[in-house]
Amino acid sequence: MSSFKIKSFEEYEQAYQKSVEAPEEFWGEIASTFRWQKKWDKVLEWNFTDPDVKWFVGGKTNITENCLDRHLEKNANTLAYIWEPNNPNDATVKYTYRELHEKVCRFANVLKKHGAKKGDRICIYMPMIPELAIAVLACARIGAVHSVVFGGFSAHSIADRIQDAQCSMVITADGGVRGNKEIPLKSVMDDALELCPSVKKVIVLTKTKTPVYMLRNRDFWWDEELQTVGADCPAEPMDAEDILFILYTSGSTGKPKGVLHTVGGYMVFAQYTFENVFQYEQPEIFFCTADIGWITGHSYIVYGPLLSGATSVLFEGIPTFPDAGRFWDIVQKHRVTTLYTAPTAIRSLMAAGLKYVNGKDLSSLKKLGSVGEPINEEAWHWYHDNIGKGNCPIVDTWWQTETGGILISAIAGITPLKPGFASLPLPGIQPCLVDEKGDVIEGNGVSGNLCIKFPWPGIIRTTYGDHERCRTTYFSTYKNMYFTGDGCMRDEDGYYRITGRVDDVINVSGHRIGTAEVENAINMHTGVVESAVVGFPHDIKGQGIYAYVITEKAPSDENLMRQDILMTVSRIIGPIAKPDKIQFVSGLPKTRSGKIMRRILRKVAEGDIANLGDTSTLLDPTVVDAIKAGAIKSS
Ligand code: WT7
Repeated sequence: MSSFKIKSFEEYEQAYQKSVEAPEEFWGEIASTFRWQKKWDKVLEWNFTDPDVKWFVGGKTNITENCLDRHLEKNANTLAYIWEPNNPNDATVKYTYRELHEKVCRFANVLKKHGAKKGDRICIYMPMIPELAIAVLACARIGAVHSVVFGGFSAHSIADRIQDAQCSMVITADGGVRGNKEIPLKSVMDDALELCPSVKKVIVLTKTKTPVYMLRNRDFWWDEELQTVGADCPAEPMDAEDILFILYTSGSTGKPKGVLHTVGGYMVFAQYTFENVFQYEQPEIFFCTADIGWITGHSYIVYGPLLSGATSVLFEGIPTFPDAGRFWDIVQKHRVTTLYTAPTAIRSLMAAGLKYVNGKDLSSLKKLGSVGEPINEEAWHWYHDNIGKGNCPIVDTWWQTETGGILISAIAGITPLKPGFASLPLPGIQPCLVDEKGDVIEGNGVSGNLCIKFPWPGIIRTTYGDHERCRTTYFSTYKNMYFTGDGCMRDEDGYYRITGRVDDVINVSGHRIGTAEVENAINMHTGVVESAVVGFPHDIKGQGIYAYVITEKAPSDENLMRQDILMTVSRIIGPIAKPDKIQFVSGLPKTRSGKIMRRILRKVAEGDIANLGDTSTLLDPTVVDAIKAGAIKSS
């Protein structure tokens, strides 16, 4: 157990106070518990103007030494991963820390053999199998920058990400399975690679035995390459501020941006937050249901748990295959103690009914977690009562791709809970609420835009290749503050409740989708003149996507054209960005300066057409009546 584990509410308050009064001492002590090749000269240098944030300046380490080598002395035979396959009848695979260490070192040697060096960007596009974690760690071992792309993204999205980062290598698999669906990963990647001349080498894992195209001198089989290398791979010495990874995420404008995290700060923050929020202790079994393609998987399937020497379940499949009892089967089978999942999953399993829960032995569960979007009270109580049997604390963890780890959350079993509240900031986190004018709102019982006024070790360093975009997106709205993009209320007890995005980002099933991105995809469809996309409340997904589309001429078959547009969006972004509703309109509500009044479109999408507010500034107020008349009701 590490010395920084908070064990009581009093200790939380003390740690919090110290983190504010003496942040460098606070984080320096925590960082001292890690393995460093060279100690840092200075804990923190920062300004939020450029912005320029550096943690553990001058320190040298390698995160994989802390994830793997560090545990070999005493805990080599502890399980790192229990892999649960998509098909419950297939065999579970288990890896100890020793085995994982060896696999990572060997695969790192494969990367080296193919010319990968420190600083090179490597795109990883793989299913949820142990080899995905191995590929991620192998990159970190040699100092290459990983850019994991979620297996559900289209060739077009992959190409955008590979080009933006100028990746020189790709690691993928022939295919992947999720539920009943097979995803031809290599084939999708081949389409992407047509547009990516920077990629010189592709390593392909055999998984589904799907026939694939293998180009001589570019494409190599994972298994064959492993035969040609040794098991010894010293960890590359990394500066604390060297790049660890890039992960693309959507914003309110333009293409997804590459959020960049660095080695030292991210490492310290991932372990600190994992151990404290979940109060992890061996031999607990931690099960985070996210995909490693998202930040939740990076921080709480790969780095946080491994840094802590924890045992995690890595699940290949989906919550509803072969039926809606799958999570509960996994909890029972592997005696899971901590389940960390998303409200959207809870709502869909709740809708499936208790018949999938009843009869399952969930007695191993001690702690529950929620992440990705606000959790509504109904889902909170269902989770608490039926899964936690009233005995398990639920930590509602608020954070973002940009924050690297959890910022606001209860500490399991320590912080008193309130359903729907992320609750209190972790030590080191200084949230504040800001009004429209940029003034900080003091006191309790208030609402505003959520900002953070002091850096923490896991904070975004830049957006890859475009520092100005990082500055304008996060550090220019409010002076000297990191702006989260979320609205938030702080109640009388100082508890935080996140109310959702205040920008043009939609949170669909816990995934961030930029409205501009979806609009751009729809606008690529033949016959489309213009479109506007907004979110609307959705029972299962949290938010759904509602698209208003202007066409050159009235579609002869509206339904077919809708299907076609969905195909286009799937091809351009991926199936997760497909609109739930498409309304064909003849005009959009625009101001005299040509700006679309999204507020009105949101109201119509919500079905709240009686309260559209002031429409007098519209260029043509009559378009609103036409839009109201054609609104698609909830299905
Ligand atoms: C956005 C970040 C990092 C977690 C996975 C999503 C929303 C996240 C919560 C929560 C209310 C939440 C916010 C945030 N969000 N967690 N517990 N309660 N909202 O990461 O894709 O970077 O999205 O997800 O709106 O800004 P992401």
